[in-house]
Formats: sequence, C-alpha cells, structure tokens
Amino acid sequence: MNTVVARPHPPSLPHGEIEKIFEDVYMVTGTVEMKMLPFMPMTFSRNMQVIRNTGGRDDDEADLILVNTVRLDDDGLAALDGLGAVKHIVRLAAFHGMDDPFYKARYPQATVWAVDDAPYFPNFETKSKEVYFQADKRLEASSELPAILAGVSFVVIESEKPKDGILVLERPEGKVLITGDSLQNMDECDAYFNYLGRLCMKMMGFISPCQVGPAWKKVANVQPKEMRKLLDLQFDHVLPAHGRPVLGQAWKRYEASILGMGEEN
Ligand SMILES: [Fe+2]
Repeated sequence: MNTVVARPHPPSLPHGEIEKIFEDVYMVTGTVEMKMLPFMPMTFSRNMQVIRNTGGRDDDEADLILVNTVRLDDDGLAALDGLGAVKHIVRLAAFHGMDDPFYKARYPQATVWAVDDAPYFPNFETKSKEVYFQADKRLEASSELPAILAGVSFVVIESEKPKDGILVLERPEGKVLITGDSLQNMDECDAYFNYLGRLCMKMMGFISPCQVGPAWKKVANVQPKEMRKLLDLQFDHVLPAHGRPVLGQAWKRYEASILGMGEEN
C-alpha cells in the first residue's frame, strides 16, 4: 500500500483555448514542466480532453468528463464551467494526473478514475512508495463506466506497471480513441516547448507523427502484440495526450509505428 503525501497543486502553465473537435468533444493544449536541471526546466505540450453530455436534458445542464487533466488559468476555468458541470475526471496515463488533485479540490463532487496499476507517483519516479493522490475509483478492463459515459468503452493495455488506458468513443463521425501516453502525435515542437524541451524531446524520439509513446513503452515494457490488438479496432480518430488530433483513417496512420515495435534496436 502506498503512503499518500499530498503536495501543493502545481500552478497553471501556459495553454490555449478549449477547442471543439467534434460535437460535445473538446481538447485544450497546455504545458508540462519537468525539472531536468535546477535552473532550466524542460517544457513541452500535453492535452486535456473534455467530453460533454446533456443526457437528454437542456443544453445548459450538461455534465462534463475531463480526461488527461491540464490545469487551466482563471479564464480557461470560466470557459470550462461555461460548458457544463464537471462530474468525472479520468486519468489514462501514469505519467499524467498531476492536476487531478486541483480539479478534485475545485469540483469535490466529481469522481476521479485512474487506471489500475498506475499509482500517482511523484516526479516520474515509478518505484516511489509515496503517492501524492489517490483516485476514487480504479479503471480496469472490467470496470462498469458511469451512465454518463454511455457509448464509451475502456481498453487497458496489458504491460508491466505503469499501465496505460484508452477511452473508445463510438460516434457518428466514427470510432474515436482518447489516449494517454500510448498513442501520440507530436509531429512538431509547438509553442509550449522551450529550448530544452525541443532539444531533449527530439533526442528522445518524441517528435514524430502517429507513434507509440516512446518513453512509456520502454518503462512499461509493452509487448508489440498488445499494441497490435488496437489495430483490430480500426479506429478512425485519435485525440492524444501529446500532439495534435489525428482525424480520419487513424488506425492506418499508426500502423507503421505499431507494427515496427520490437524492431527499433
Ligand atoms: Fe505523457
């Protein structure tokens, strides 16, 4: 059992506007900061997705599900509140979630879901016995999702810890995957990368379109066959935690990276 040692909420860092990707599905791009060197943090971008659900009620009574949370500034939070009431917070990736405690404190009625076998370890230390937060509910392959997520299913990618999950949305536009670190699309260094971020993320192989997350697949020792199962879904679109949305024929665009796993070294 991990010991919970709460920590101050990380501040809001630069981010963009909340953009509508599909009807009632939104994404906002912000910043993650890693202290690589004492005086020179590395920054790069990450995304939060917002799913809106009116459940047949009036449009101004919508519920919201936040996925891969990114703390927004006051204007961003006002825009978020204008979309609806936050009811669920979903953490798909163990290397994300640093802003979940902030959102839980702001919306105490919301239920926080986190992928099982992915504790909230601090500072990217996967072996840490201390965690800074605990979810209300664990997300497992067998988890029954709340009614608000009707039409959404959950896939966990079997691997060593920490595991990563994917939400699968069946929509009129096709099958949409909302991913954590498993499927990324950082085809360029955007405005949220600083100099060190550009340098390090290129060196570490993160800057490439439609690829399996390079750091997570190594840390979690993800086997190629587990990622190949995703291709059977023939997903149309991907809203990743890193990079731009992949809209249209998405499974074919990830095929080369997934089928190439295990051949890199
Ligand atoms: Fe990540």
